[in-house]
Amino acid sequence: MTTTVQLKTRPLKPGFGAELIDVDLAHADAETVSGVVEAFHKHGAILLRGQTMDPTQLVQFISAFGEPEDHTQTQFTLPGHPKVFILSNRVVDGKPIGAHNDGVGWHTDYSYKAEPVMCTMLYAAEVPDEGSDTLLADQCAAWNALSPERQAELDGLMLHHSYQYFMSTREFGRQELSDELKAANPDVIHPLIRTHPSDGRKALWVSTGTVKEVVGMPNPQGLELIDELVDWVTQDQFVFRHKWQVGDILMWDNRCTLHTGTLYDDTKYFRTMHRLWVKGDKPF
Ligand SMILES: [Fe+2]
Repeated sequence: MTTTVQLKTRPLKPGFGAELIDVDLAHADAETVSGVVEAFHKHGAILLRGQTMDPTQLVQFISAFGEPEDHTQTQFTLPGHPKVFILSNRVVDGKPIGAHNDGVGWHTDYSYKAEPVMCTMLYAAEVPDEGSDTLLADQCAAWNALSPERQAELDGLMLHHSYQYFMSTREFGRQELSDELKAANPDVIHPLIRTHPSDGRKALWVSTGTVKEVVGMPNPQGLELIDELVDWVTQDQFVFRHKWQVGDILMWDNRCTLHTGTLYDDTKYFRTMHRLWVKGDKPF
């Protein structure tokens, strides 16, 4: 895709991600939006600060990236807006309005699906004064930094991802799945080394949580390899740490990044985010 709009950008980290400056998404024309989409595919992650977007505008904006994806746990979607998922520690009338502490632990979204989401967007409605940073790791840089010998050893390995395994072992919000959720989320096998469809760049597409085993490798050896690779990808040199402000929109490409939320003092602060997803395709 080409665009005539030249957006002002600065890297989130040298060689990774871009902050797009002076873009007001609520009033952006189609050319500007296509420039934002282009920047996203090129840089792996984008940040736009100071945005004011209602849920309808968020859905409209993310539709420029592809078809918005549904959410697995539908009890925390915004009423009237099934594509908008709420992350929050607020409780209204005795009921949590969103998922709390979701996404803490390095992972890539929807990795337990045959077609994991391509893009994740978070829009900050309220943020704590401290904590709750989001960290993004550049899996292409992590792959490129491996020796050719190590790359050859890893290329071709396949990972067994399981939502059921993830939900029964995770630290926060552990749950036994209903038969309906089990049926809707069968286990899947994905490559460890993923190729980006836009330009063929390769990513060390490792993740935690949903990975049950490396196919053909007994545990604990397989999970030890996963731990080793996650440690490699999440070294400071590959990681961008985002400190949130209200009105931030942060989007990342799940085909080439790993991410994690971080904790905050939920007795002292409220945090509310809107999360939207864009459908992806089968990893190769
Ligand atoms: Fe996530």
